[in-house]
Amino acid sequence: MSESYIQSLFADRIGGSQYGKSQNIYKFEKIKRAKRAAMAMNPGAEIIDLGVGEPDEMAFPEVVSKLCEEAAKPENRGYSDNGDTVLKEAAARYLDSIFGVSGINPETEVIHSIGSKAALSILPAALINPGDFVLMTVPGYPVFGTHSRYYGGLVYNLKLTAENNFLPDLDAVPGEVLRKAKVLVLNYPNNPTGAAATPEFFARVVEFAKKNNIIVIHDAAYAGLIFEGKPLSFLATPGAKDVGIELHSVSKSYNMTGWRCGFVTGNPLLVKAYGDVKDNSDSGQFLAIQHASAYCLDHPDITRKISAKYSRRMDGLVKALRAAGFDAKKPKGSFFLYVKAPKAALVNGSKHIEFGNAEDISQWLITEKFLSTVPWDDAGSALRFSVTFAAKNVEDESRILDEIGKRLSSVKFEF
Ligand SMILES: Cc1ncc(COP(=O)(O)O)c(C=O)c1O
Repeated sequence: MSESYIQSLFADRIGGSQYGKSQNIYKFEKIKRAKRAAMAMNPGAEIIDLGVGEPDEMAFPEVVSKLCEEAAKPENRGYSDNGDTVLKEAAARYLDSIFGVSGINPETEVIHSIGSKAALSILPAALINPGDFVLMTVPGYPVFGTHSRYYGGLVYNLKLTAENNFLPDLDAVPGEVLRKAKVLVLNYPNNPTGAAATPEFFARVVEFAKKNNIIVIHDAAYAGLIFEGKPLSFLATPGAKDVGIELHSVSKSYNMTGWRCGFVTGNPLLVKAYGDVKDNSDSGQFLAIQHASAYCLDHPDITRKISAKYSRRMDGLVKALRAAGFDAKKPKGSFFLYVKAPKAALVNGSKHIEFGNAEDISQWLITEKFLSTVPWDDAGSALRFSVTFAAKNVEDESRILDEIGKRLSSVKFEF
């Protein structure tokens, strides 16, 4: 059959006439395939999925009730555009009460998002011209960089490593990149490393941004999910509102990934520009969802309960991985445990297996041990274990953590 003329019409940014022809299989697709293959080869085996990037539980019942109540109101039925005042005001209260960020003007300094991902895909249209550099951290969540490239922007990667506490070395950006750099994207608590920022680091970021005329976008998708201390907002840093914005979301902190709601807050000029592009991209999230999200922001105890669960699971996972030889340390927050990938393994004291990179060991863990993880090879080789694995109750959770330990007990990993 001859090729459809449609094949020649794709934009260069997604591959042009070669779109869809690449044989490359992306990381997450490889994991899915390996999982499917392991299940097909071993019917009835229990696959423990430690690769999931979202909560394992539903939104809390009171939030679901609030949604139902709000969904029944005729005034909430239509396009919400850039939103009404309910979420904006709740966001300002939330920033104040949880992060000590006072004085946010709900009218000019907050606009909702249909999740942080949507905001990260909208913002480059407001900021990036061809040839502009974006400073992004790796390993990390790439959405802002992907869309920046769509607009002709260039991405400079800053490596996050255990040696720098997973905080980028801003002094390492070469002068020629810095001159063309427009945006620095940060994310703390961090996916995938679980690292948290510090007030000192954020103060350095503000100084760096002012000195180099750079806009800071802080993606706080995991804000509130912390295991010690108090949640930290970039906007709590003196001068932060002069240089940037912060993205919040109810997805992870309130078990609401499917609901698609968050907000963008901070510098009013940046918030306005986001709102202008957003207004031309979507017609706003359903007001009932926005109002239920506003209810969440006024009930931070929900996040505290979710954090406590992840913290408990994290303790068990760290123990199991340490017993297997991993240098696992409990992270400061998020639901991710990021550990250095082993180079080899001795199985049952006899069989020696070498791993070329994190992807190799991740494939081996799923195939041989039915443990699904996410590999990262961007800044050294590492594995991401997520504590959002499915468990029926706390007893089942302990059983699963014990089971992870048991499955790894016949293996001696080499690093
Ligand atoms: C760092 C980071 N930012 C943003 C998102 C997307 O969040 P949302 O559900 O609010 O779009 C994710 C989701 O995995 C994430 O890990």
